[in-house]
Amino acid sequence: MTDSASSGAAHTRRYEDVLVVTIDHPPVNALSAAVRRDLSAAIQAAQTDTQVRAILLLGAGRNFIAGADIREFGKPPQQPVLPEVCNQIEASAKPVIAALHGAALGGGLEIALAAHYRVALANAKLGLPEVNLGLLPGAGGTQRAPRLMGAEAALDLMLSGKHLSAQAALKAGLVDTLATEDDALDAGLAYTRQLLAVNAGPRRTRDATAALADKQASLAAVEAAAERVAATAKGLYSPARIVEAVRAAIEQPFEEGLRSERALFLQCLDSPQRAALVHAFFAERETAKIPELKEARSRRLESVGVIGGGTMGAGIAVSVLDAGLPVVMVEQDAAALARGRARVEQVYDLLVKKGRIPADERAARLARLTGATTYDALGEADLIIEAVFEDMAVKQAVFAQLDRVAKPGAVLATNTSYLDVNQIAAATRGPADVLGLHFFSPANIMKLLEVVVGSDTAPDTVATGFELARRLRKIPVRAGVCDGFIGNRILAVHRQAADMMMEDGASPYDIDAAVRAFGYPMGPYQMADLAGGDIGWATRKRRAATRDPALRYVQIPDRLCERGWFGQKTGRGFYLYPDGARQGTPDPEVLAIIDEERRRTGVAPRAFTQDDILRRYLAAMINEAANVLHQGIALRPSDVDVVFLSGYGFPRHRGGPMHYADSVGLDHVLADIRGYAKEDPAFWKPSPLLVQLAESGRGFGSLNAA
Ligand code: 3HC
Ligand code: NAI
Repeated sequence: MTDSASSGAAHTRRYEDVLVVTIDHPPVNALSAAVRRDLSAAIQAAQTDTQVRAILLLGAGRNFIAGADIREFGKPPQQPVLPEVCNQIEASAKPVIAALHGAALGGGLEIALAAHYRVALANAKLGLPEVNLGLLPGAGGTQRAPRLMGAEAALDLMLSGKHLSAQAALKAGLVDTLATEDDALDAGLAYTRQLLAVNAGPRRTRDATAALADKQASLAAVEAAAERVAATAKGLYSPARIVEAVRAAIEQPFEEGLRSERALFLQCLDSPQRAALVHAFFAERETAKIPELKEARSRRLESVGVIGGGTMGAGIAVSVLDAGLPVVMVEQDAAALARGRARVEQVYDLLVKKGRIPADERAARLARLTGATTYDALGEADLIIEAVFEDMAVKQAVFAQLDRVAKPGAVLATNTSYLDVNQIAAATRGPADVLGLHFFSPANIMKLLEVVVGSDTAPDTVATGFELARRLRKIPVRAGVCDGFIGNRILAVHRQAADMMMEDGASPYDIDAAVRAFGYPMGPYQMADLAGGDIGWATRKRRAATRDPALRYVQIPDRLCERGWFGQKTGRGFYLYPDGARQGTPDPEVLAIIDEERRRTGVAPRAFTQDDILRRYLAAMINEAANVLHQGIALRPSDVDVVFLSGYGFPRHRGGPMHYADSVGLDHVLADIRGYAKEDPAFWKPSPLLVQLAESGRGFGSLNAA
């Protein structure tokens, strides 16, 4: 090892005749302008440095390179652009070797594909995940990956956005060898020396021909992918362009293919979907930035108690067991406990059956689960999550018991969907230890976790909630106390808007179709049938006494519940589910009940277009979200977006309701609401925050930046 070092985003150091170029740009070595400049300068200098025989590219820290700098998208391009840097690397007259560890993603992998040789460490993960950001690999990836791994595998990689392990990447032909070393410098130098020992020269991916040699098979893979995309990509912009770029890789000479890729990339870059998806990427990483974490750290979190082994309790237990923590489940009696345990076992049985986990892993996870029918079993738990019936008296009784048995400093959480966390905390002598941890069903799958902070919740209790989310790989969003917190509170309002449209003339099937056309996987009435109509019915009954009499109340859902039509689980709800079918079919009897209600309430039905339906539905959502922000229930607009993206199926390529509202223009949303208010001023009250922002020409996004 000898020689100089230059400071900056990439620095160089010579190890005898090997120039090591280390990209050192925390946190993830994204390819920002400074990195591109340094990298380009290093490659150029190496060409004329007679002491250098080979160039080794490395990433400092935990990753090789996580990709292009996503923060630069949408800003004026700065030279040199990434495709040029990749071309410069490929054109090097001296062999360039990339040693990959951690993330080698997007532009990071494209740099590696432009290098002449690739070695991967065991912890490397390789991928071209641009599709998740509404993009395609735009630095030669669509042209070089097919040349190494073939069209079919490359399309799969780019359309799925999945990460490949080092082993899988070797098998696919993306890397040349796997390292036994666990340090990228050692591995890279060892491999480079081997190459120099046999006088290996530059070997350019652009010239690789074997993987695309069978042109017909390659084009068939493109056609198959095009069909798949047309059938499944539901309005997404970039997948079809990825397919076109790969077609160009097959049909066009390399340089022309690169130009095609560039043109397609720029189209994606300019699309609103790209802006929405990038917004979602950063929004998900913002949620953990909360005031409590500036002053407090998580308490000890080594064991968890779960009270209730029903739908949610069992799902929460699975999620915690999956994270490697032990769980004590407490139920009312032995029979209920056995059912709770059976629910957990069922989840693991299915995972084994699908080949997702081996049988011994199932056994290991279940071995961490113990059960009890008395609260004393919770005495050692660091965190206890209550998931019993949604009833204040029951929950208060549970928390009074917990106050007796929990060890000092244990965090006590409620999974309530709507109830007042402060009132639940008041059943204890230590409300500082109490918070809401609102999971979503199925709790072992859904990413969202609302962390509900009560008026007395201590910062380190909140920090413990966020730490649990991190261990469970969930996305935590901080919420304040109100009926329904962020998500369910807003949902109740736009569902009410949907119910009013249903009584006024749109069928539930029209409404569901409009919401699906927007990009939701299902509409509100399909969702209600899936969740079970009885849950909403119980909530409506609870609220009946305090309901504002000035607000219109649509009784159609109650009419169905009175008949015992609770949705899928009872074989009918808004839809029919004959013989346990999962896909519902429209029910003429439901339409007759709706007609009957219209007659009873004296509503003359009118027509709603798909656009009418969506505008009202989304305006109600956006307006209530503005109230939630105005009252400090959510910390920032992007947190509301994350709640809807990860908990309620809002289409990700639209960025969430707040981002979507900004893209439509808040003045338009406000004008709609003011228009609807003429027919129903009690329901359609413009939120003060919405008015303030719209009238000052600002968007919700301006509050994110603040
Ligand atoms: N550009 C800018 N910032 C990035 C970034 C990127 N490509 N990738 C991650 N970051 C930031 C995050 O915003 C976060 O910032 P914060 O601390 O201020 O919130 C920080 O880096 C750490 O990120 P994570 O919290 O996600 O860290 P993890 O260790 O959990 O995950 C990762 C690391 C797997 C690399 C993950 O960050 C990731 O998947 N990043 C995006 C990868 C990607 O999509 N690359 C393709 C980019 S598009 C492209 O390359 C276009 C090209 O083809 C032209
Ligand atoms: P569930 O009815 O499936 O399960 C409740 C379980 O709690 C039952 O197994 C019951 O035996 C047990 N239980 C009742 N009282 C108990 C006590 N004193 N001690 C121990 N166990 C007791 O209900 P589900 O759906 O699991 O809901 C539980 C909580 O989670 C409710 O507060 C609900 O609002 C909330 N929630 C429900 C969601 C859903 O989609 N089902 C989503 C998010 C939250």
